[in-house]
Amino acid sequence: MTNFSASTQSPTQIKSDLMIVRIFEGEKTLEPKVKELDKTLRGAISNIIKTGDFTGKKGEAQLVYTHQATPTSRILLLGLGKKTAYNLESSRIAMSTVTTVIQKVKAGSISVLLTKTLPKKSNTEQAIQVIMESLFLSNYKFLEHKKIEVGDEPVILDNIEFVLNKAGDKASVLKGAKQGCFVAAAVNFARDLANHPGNFMTPQSLAEAAIKMAKENKIKYKVLEKPEMKKLGMGALLGVNQGSILEPKFIILEYNLSKPGKPTVLVGKGITFDSGGISIKPSQKMNEMKFDMCGAATVLGVMKAAAELKLPHKLIGLIPATENLPSGSAIKPGDVVRAMNGKSIEINNTDAEGRIILADALSYAQKYKPKNVIDFATLTGAAIVALGTGYSAAFGNNEQLMARLQKAAEISGEKIWRLPLDSDYKEKMKGKIADLDNIGHNEGGGTITAALFLQEFVDFPWIHLDIAGTAWTNEPKPYRPVGATGVGVRLTLEFLK
Ligand code: BES
Ligand code: ZN
Ligand code: ZN
Repeated sequence: MTNFSASTQSPTQIKSDLMIVRIFEGEKTLEPKVKELDKTLRGAISNIIKTGDFTGKKGEAQLVYTHQATPTSRILLLGLGKKTAYNLESSRIAMSTVTTVIQKVKAGSISVLLTKTLPKKSNTEQAIQVIMESLFLSNYKFLEHKKIEVGDEPVILDNIEFVLNKAGDKASVLKGAKQGCFVAAAVNFARDLANHPGNFMTPQSLAEAAIKMAKENKIKYKVLEKPEMKKLGMGALLGVNQGSILEPKFIILEYNLSKPGKPTVLVGKGITFDSGGISIKPSQKMNEMKFDMCGAATVLGVMKAAAELKLPHKLIGLIPATENLPSGSAIKPGDVVRAMNGKSIEINNTDAEGRIILADALSYAQKYKPKNVIDFATLTGAAIVALGTGYSAAFGNNEQLMARLQKAAEISGEKIWRLPLDSDYKEKMKGKIADLDNIGHNEGGGTITAALFLQEFVDFPWIHLDIAGTAWTNEPKPYRPVGATGVGVRLTLEFLK
């Protein structure tokens, strides 16, 4: 793990491969510590600002060489944007541009000069946490299946030193740094799981990864196999699995179970590849359906960080895992299955498989008499139509829970937008020969229909997050490289805080 430390020394005394000096846009006077540095550098910083070559726009980065005037030979001026608009997310976005420079100049140790102004609505701890998050999330690369050319090895950040204005901040800085490290590691763990292609990340390997993580963190685990699923009446998960030659797995993780009180249960969709089944998807972009287990990855990421951060919560993770493939044994449109809670489902489109396997997982969650349940699922393409790639669709049956999540979304920067669980839309969800139809025949509103379907299996305070638009990205975004984003991990950890 990366070493981090905090110091109140003058930046002119600090040794690192790269010193990051954070500056607001259009600031006329430099902060005292920056002034000291500028003086030693005979005005190098103030001159760059005076010429207008560096303006401090959010994410703007300008290298300055110190020519032995200070123990650190390179300084990176980093723009934070306007002070009046400075918040946790703008700090993350600004910090994300540092990665390219770290890689380019191969800086294994960096120092970060903190500003006196904190991001809006935040404290020192949070301000440091987001700097760490952004550094490690931006620096993420998935290279497990790639040959790395000599010289192209990614630089690992070994050392981070925060340069403080007030000695009294030290404890908060170190606490925030530690939290940021654990949180980012959990997000990157989720990304790693989800970035593996379907032939590597099978239900079996997902279960193995969950067990490995659980063992490392002293989390109780259990994986249900087919015979136990049959005994429990998980006809929905078994039905979706029928077309695959790989056995389904139902992964159960229990953290702090022996503590008194009711647990929070996290449920994640674990379709390790979604071809659509007999209702097969068009081939264009079908490869992206290796990401259909991102919900499962989120649950595992949250559980990992919860244990590492020693959160006091009682937390359960449930993951139904299977492939969704067509074959001679696959489930067919029109077939009827029965979920664990006894409700029968007419499967009129085998591509709406996520809600089917979640039916069993949510039914199973009832066993725990949970305080609340959050599920994460790449559930509907319609979520992308409705909200694009910037917001996860959120549904909830409990106002307090929803308000708490909304707050966590603001702090974590993982945006959500609430959609209605409107019972008028339920009419068309009835099956012709079964209790429920797995598609529902509403005009549009596919994300709502899917959420209403899930609600049929819920008898507890509940939130459903449709992460179809946010779970992976095809273009690089600030601190989110192409591929799985690990969305939901930071949101949920903030929610639990
Ligand atoms: N995994 C998909 C949803 C999805 C699609 C996520 C595209 C991300 C990008 C899900 O299993 C699915 O196929 N849903 C169908 C439901 C429909 C058949 C009612 C969909 O969204 O088209
Ligand atoms: Zn599908
Ligand atoms: Zn799916």
